[in-house]
Amino acid sequence: STNRVHRIAVIPGDGIGKEVVPEGVRVLEAAAKKFGFKLQLDNFDFASCDYYEKHGRMLPEDWKDQIGKHDAIFFGAVGMPDKVPDHISLWGSLILFRREFDQYVNLRPVRLMPGVPSPLAGREPGDIDFWVVRENTEGEYSAIGGRMFAGTEREVVVQETVMSRVGVDRVLKFAFELAQSTPKKHLTSATKSNGIAITMPYWDERVKEMAKSYPDVKWNQFHIDILTAHFVMNPDKFNVVVASNLFGDILSDLGPACTGTIGIAPSGNINPERKYPSVFEPVHGSAPDIYGQGIANPIGQIWSGAMMLEHLGESEAAKAIVTAIEKVLAEPKLRTRDLKGPANTVECGKAIAEALA
Ligand code: NAI
Ligand code: MG
Repeated sequence: STNRVHRIAVIPGDGIGKEVVPEGVRVLEAAAKKFGFKLQLDNFDFASCDYYEKHGRMLPEDWKDQIGKHDAIFFGAVGMPDKVPDHISLWGSLILFRREFDQYVNLRPVRLMPGVPSPLAGREPGDIDFWVVRENTEGEYSAIGGRMFAGTEREVVVQETVMSRVGVDRVLKFAFELAQSTPKKHLTSATKSNGIAITMPYWDERVKEMAKSYPDVKWNQFHIDILTAHFVMNPDKFNVVVASNLFGDILSDLGPACTGTIGIAPSGNINPERKYPSVFEPVHGSAPDIYGQGIANPIGQIWSGAMMLEHLGESEAAKAIVTAIEKVLAEPKLRTRDLKGPANTVECGKAIAEALA
């Protein structure tokens, strides 16, 4: 029915974010028209270095009131290192969204698409198709620790890993449910309980416990070192891979790298309870080196839009967008320059919107 309305905060940010977000919006609007839902899109100019230059900060004081009630945030990229140091632009915007909106799942599909050569020899579309679920709020990336006797021979630094039962269980639950919803119903957990002998055995213990609630999901676990090797040697063996913050950070870059260009990889920073809006954004950054030329690949942004629609319950539309992306990628003349094609950002975006309609 047409009374499904999704309220989206649209934040292009910096650099090619400003070029690819309009293409993402184009495809979202085409999907809304075709699948009979409405989008209320509100544009925001903050979380950008232009905003910082005007206001001396990345976000307005009341940013949470402005975007905290939306159903989702459709984000481009942030960062213009020549204008604003990266730690200020990133920590003053995206990292705040992730923390304050408790987006404890970072979700990335790893999928080899037609027309995108894999750096792994002999792999075809269909061979690589899995999800990386990364814990996004605790684990190895904690603020607990410090430095003592700085600058002396007794200098000591300590940084503690933090794993809470709530924090571990909720990301495992998300991953098991995702695995259960897929045809293969398989889950892999990343561990290192042989070396990190306190927190990682705890992680494993919680996996085993959570698995009891999903008897139809088959699961296994690997130590992170051999798991990275399997990503390269046997990427066809994975379905859903769940990992702590640090391991997930590594795996969620390694996975997409095995499937070709960074220009097409999407991601979600998700608050599964929907207490707060989730952020959907391409994996790539603002690419200052190509900004202004209109040649950026818009597919990472467009695919992020598909993930957003899935999160909003528009599964059919989400799948249709991914299919449209595959159709366009299979056509050499519609590919952008990063894929050795002649198309520009707008041409590629329009082609996907048309393939969808
Ligand atoms: P980047 O992802 O912006 O660019 C890396 C390389 O990939 C560049 O050569 C770029 O031209 C190319 N590239 C990226 N996206 C592309 C696309 N859609 N189509 C074609 N080519 C593409 O990473 P980099 O250069 O390390 O960072 C640039 C800025 O972006 C920095 O300020 C950084 O902090 C920020 N950044 C922001 C992220 C975010 O908003 N989530 C994520 C990563 C970086
Ligand atoms: Mg990373």
